[in-house]
Formats: sequence, C-alpha cells, structure tokens
Amino acid sequence: MQSFLILALATLAPLVAAQQSAYGQCGGTGYTGSTTCVSGYSCTKINEYYSQCTPGTVSTTSASSSPSNAAGCSGTLTKFKYFGVNEAGAEFGTAVPGQLGKDYTWPTTTSIDYFLGKGFNTFRVGFMMERLTPPSGGLTGAFNATYLASLKQTASYITSHGGYAVLDPHNYGRYNGAIMSSAANFGTWCKNLASQFASDSKIIFDTNNEYHDMDQQLVFDLNQACINGIRAAGAKSQLILVEGNSWTGAWTWVSSGNAASLINLKDPNNNMAYEMHQYLDSDGSGTSATCVSSTIGAERLAAATAWLKANGKKGFLGEIGGGSNDACINAVKGALCSMQQSGVWIGALWWAAGPWWADYFQSIEPPNGAAISRILPEALLPFL
Ligand SMILES: *[C@@H]1O[C@H](CO)[C@@H](O)[C@H](O)[C@H]1NC(C)=O
Repeated sequence: MQSFLILALATLAPLVAAQQSAYGQCGGTGYTGSTTCVSGYSCTKINEYYSQCTPGTVSTTSASSSPSNAAGCSGTLTKFKYFGVNEAGAEFGTAVPGQLGKDYTWPTTTSIDYFLGKGFNTFRVGFMMERLTPPSGGLTGAFNATYLASLKQTASYITSHGGYAVLDPHNYGRYNGAIMSSAANFGTWCKNLASQFASDSKIIFDTNNEYHDMDQQLVFDLNQACINGIRAAGAKSQLILVEGNSWTGAWTWVSSGNAASLINLKDPNNNMAYEMHQYLDSDGSGTSATCVSSTIGAERLAAATAWLKANGKKGFLGEIGGGSNDACINAVKGALCSMQQSGVWIGALWWAAGPWWADYFQSIEPPNGAAISRILPEALLPFL
C-alpha cells in the first residue's frame, strides 16, 4: 500500500501544473484546486470536507487504517469507531425536578448538526437520574414522562441523523443524596431505562458517570447489575460502557484497583467497553487550562492502555479536555495518537459542548465556544 502510493504520486506529479503549498488545502468535498503538494509534503485526508498538505511523503487515503495523520501521528493507526463530544446541560443544577430553561437545558439540534457535519458520530447526553426517576417513587419507580420525552427526543434526533447517542446518567453512583447501595434496585432502573430504548441500535448505554469514594465491590456490583438489566430489557446489541471508581480516571485505572476488580465484569452479549476519563491539568480535574506538559496525555493513558491490551479489553475515553494552548493541544494530540496506535480504544469524546457553557475554556459549543478555534481543527478533527 505504502510503496504503491509513493509510486503513484511520483508518476502523477509531473502532470499537474500547480502544486499546493505547505499546509494548503488539497482536497475535500467541492474542492477544485490542485491535489498534489510541494516536495516534502503529501495530501492528507482530514475528513470528507478537507484534505491538507502535511509534512511527509506518504499519502493517506484510507479511512480505516492510515500510516500517519495531519496531527503528526504516525504508525499504523486504528481509527475510532466512536468519536465526538459530550453534550451537557440536562444534568446541570441541583434542583429536583428543577425547571427546564432555568435549572437545566437540553442539547440543541444546531449543535448536533454542526458536529455531524464535521464528521463526529458520537454524542454523550448527560441527564440527572432524579429528574427522570422522581425520588418520591424511588429508584424502581415510574419515570417522569416529560423529562423522559425530552431525553428520547434528543437521543432519537442524534440516532436518526446517523449518530450514536450515549445515555449518561450523570450521577456519580449516587441517587437522591446517597450512594446507591442496592445493586438489585439499580439493575431494575437500568432495565426500565433500556426498555425505553431497546429498539434503537445506535443507542449506547453508560451505566453511570464517575463512581467515586465507594466500596470497590459495590462499583462492580452496580455495573454488573446494570449490564444484566439492560440485556434483560431486550437491548441485546447495543454497546454498554462501564465506568470505574476514582472518577473513572484512566491515569489511576490500575493503581486504584479498578483494573483488578472490573476485569471480571461479564456481558452476556459481549459488547461492552471500559469507559475512562482523562484530564491533563495537574490534579486531573479539567478545571485548569494549564496542562502539566505537552506529553502528559499519552503518559497518563499508558498504564490503562497496557492493561486493555494485555487483557484483550476495549477502552472508551468518555471525557478528555484541556486548554487552547500549545502544551495542551500537543498533550491532547499525544493522547489520541497513542490510543489510535494501540488499537484497543474504540472511542473518544471531548468534554464538552452544550448550550450553557458561556466562556468555559473547554467548550466547543458552536458558534464560538472557546475551544473551537484551535482545539477542534488542530487536536480533534485530524483523528477522525
Ligand atoms: C416532571 O418533569 C417536569 C419537567 O422537568 C416537571 O415540571 C414536573 O414537575 C415533574 N414531575 C414530577 C412529579 O416530578
């Protein structure tokens, strides 16, 4: 493949009058200019809409496996099956049930359309369990029809437009102010939820966002009960994402004990992945726009990647984020590059989009989220 392409380019080059300059556009939907690059550069497909002259002599034409990408990531890369962004808003605030438009909001179709247009295919939709399942009826009680209808509307907008919708109960393993202590009740809750979405193959179930400060066996039991509940609801084909204790951090996946415990989770339908989160600031919380270094992304993922590889498991990076500066951008690129080089990560999602982020430094909410001008083109789109 590689030598064939070099030969093909060498043969074609003399026939084309103008060669595109370094980093110039050289292809994409509707593009009519030169498709060859000046010496030392090759035309690299970034997405359906844009190809760019990037350093190097190897051309990239395959969407499934490519020798290098526009972010300077080289080697044999396995593309992510799922790539996109968190759509936050419905989990915002603390009021229960709260008021739509005042305490919380839902993602907009404009935002979803914008990312689908750029080639993203996965959206993690956060919501609050207490709003869906009023505490008056408890975890196994009836759903609130209004909130459920909005969740369904958002999810089906995504899936009917070709995307995957990750349902994200953004509850940290807690419900109504307390750690969920009954795996059986949680399993019923998962079954009730899944039965509403069982017929949509593009739904992805996330058991819960960021368990933390919990008994490790309980985290295992909640995840296993949820898997069983989802499958018992008839949702047999959809991907299930399990999360770990310690805020499901990739950097502490092995050291926290998540690895040793959660390796024993079993999905009867064999379609599950380990969702981890990773931020690149000093405490790993994603609250500072300053990253530890330009290599911290790959470094913090290394142990988890090695664990996934050694055990034949699949990873899914459900949240990653950093500031719009050189160190963070390189750190994000390094993280995603190491993931695609490993072949064991099936997805990655940026944190975050959503209508209410205002000037939050990690927002890529269109039209002018703070991370749109640099993060999106430099660190994310090259990994599509
Ligand atoms: C159901 O949700 C709607 C919308 O959030 C809210 O206005 C209503 O009070 C909720 N009902 C119950 C019983 O929680």
